[in-house]
Amino acid sequence: VDIFLSYIKKTYDRKSKVLDFHHPHQLLEGLEGFSLELSDHPEPLEQILVDCRDTLKYGVKTGHPRYFNQLSSGLDIIGLAGEWLTATANTNMFTYEISPVFIVMEEILLKKMHEIIGWAETEADGIFSPGGSISNLYSVLVARYKRFPEIKTKGMAALPNIALFVSEHSHYSIKKAAAVLGIGTDNVIAVKCDERGKMIPSELEGSILKVKSQGKVPFYVSATAGTTVYGAFDPLPSIADICEKYNLWMHVDAAWGSGLLLSRRHSHKLNGIERANSVTWNPHKLMGVPLQCSAFLIREKGLLQACNQLCAEYLFQPDKQYDTIYDTGDKAIQCGRHVDVFKLWLMWRAKGTRGFEMVINEFLELTEYLYKELKAREGFELVFDAEPELTNVCFWYIPPSLQHFPNGPERRKRLHQVAPKIKARMIEEGTTMVSYQPHGDHVNFFRMVFSNPATKKSDVNFLLEEIERLGKDL
Ligand SMILES: Cc1ncc(COP(=O)(O)O)c(C=O)c1O
Repeated sequence: VDIFLSYIKKTYDRKSKVLDFHHPHQLLEGLEGFSLELSDHPEPLEQILVDCRDTLKYGVKTGHPRYFNQLSSGLDIIGLAGEWLTATANTNMFTYEISPVFIVMEEILLKKMHEIIGWAETEADGIFSPGGSISNLYSVLVARYKRFPEIKTKGMAALPNIALFVSEHSHYSIKKAAAVLGIGTDNVIAVKCDERGKMIPSELEGSILKVKSQGKVPFYVSATAGTTVYGAFDPLPSIADICEKYNLWMHVDAAWGSGLLLSRRHSHKLNGIERANSVTWNPHKLMGVPLQCSAFLIREKGLLQACNQLCAEYLFQPDKQYDTIYDTGDKAIQCGRHVDVFKLWLMWRAKGTRGFEMVINEFLELTEYLYKELKAREGFELVFDAEPELTNVCFWYIPPSLQHFPNGPERRKRLHQVAPKIKARMIEEGTTMVSYQPHGDHVNFFRMVFSNPATKKSDVNFLLEEIERLGKDL
């Protein structure tokens, strides 16, 4: 307990670093004295405690107020208590028989999320899955089953050549789902976006018509509500119109942006989500629930069950003493399923919807602050100059050596190297962490996101000053 508590205290302490150690450049090189080898004989208890301490010591403090590297960050104490209770219960989500409380909690959460999306008229259906990528995979799986139910028994050989549509800024998990499900990545059509990273509806319609003229059968569109890099919201109402016109399944990947649904000030950015057939919502991102916690939500009751159920006799006996409608495990593509719902349920009880709303509104205020700072400070340039809609802000740091350098391939080449060099120095020093990437025609730029309630304005200033300090000689 002392080891855990001292780690938690350090995580929140700005005097401690995001990385307390020298990050090994090669696997496990440099973890002085921390041997991970397994032996035939038990280690003494003192060694087991040292192992726990060292494991935390050589980790990256993702709950630190200056950790901005990923969409999931923060260390929520109620969520942590939820994880502990879940591990204590150590049960499995497949049947009501062994998880009566957690199965009912899942139903309650799905119902709440349906209501928030605006599907209150339907009976809640969906499933908590091991992450947004798997929730997105469920969406492709179910959409294909709805259109071609024979897929379940006959396989892809019984289907025409099918195609699906995403935006060029969508998350790679949809493409991966197409690979996993035997559809093939060539049949995932990336629709053009505007400068802000939003799918262009006329381009979507054009792509659908083109694919049809090639003899393929379009069946699914995934719109993104909160893209991974730009934080862009696709125009959901126009995409819904097109999906209706061409009879296509509309999925909304709101893994990142769904948290805004809890904010009365910002939920309008997801207008049109209620017209979707399915939605991915990751409470482990903006809502700060400890990893992992992702919901796949579907409007049509029973479809998920029909698509996936195989009625294994040893598990899903139909003649149990209770109503086996509660044995929801056969909706999943897994057998055993981790309990991801309790920590979310507990956090919701402890904070209420209003508590989540307050934190999310604060993230957006911090984002606006960063956006204004970047415009005001010399040496920083925005990738696109538009008020942020989510907590993403994309920008370059332009070191003095490039500030008056003529535009052209040589400047692009040099600028491309700036962010990775600063990031490498950042990790060496362990003071903060922020991600970078190239995107489309843009050379490497920083992507800043807020999803940690511990972060304050002073941390934003710290990040900008740290980037300047580490990069001014480049
Ligand atoms: C828009 C979007 N969809 C899906 C995912 C995948 O979620 P997960 O990491 O939980 O698999 C991400 C992850 O960042 C995302 O940004």
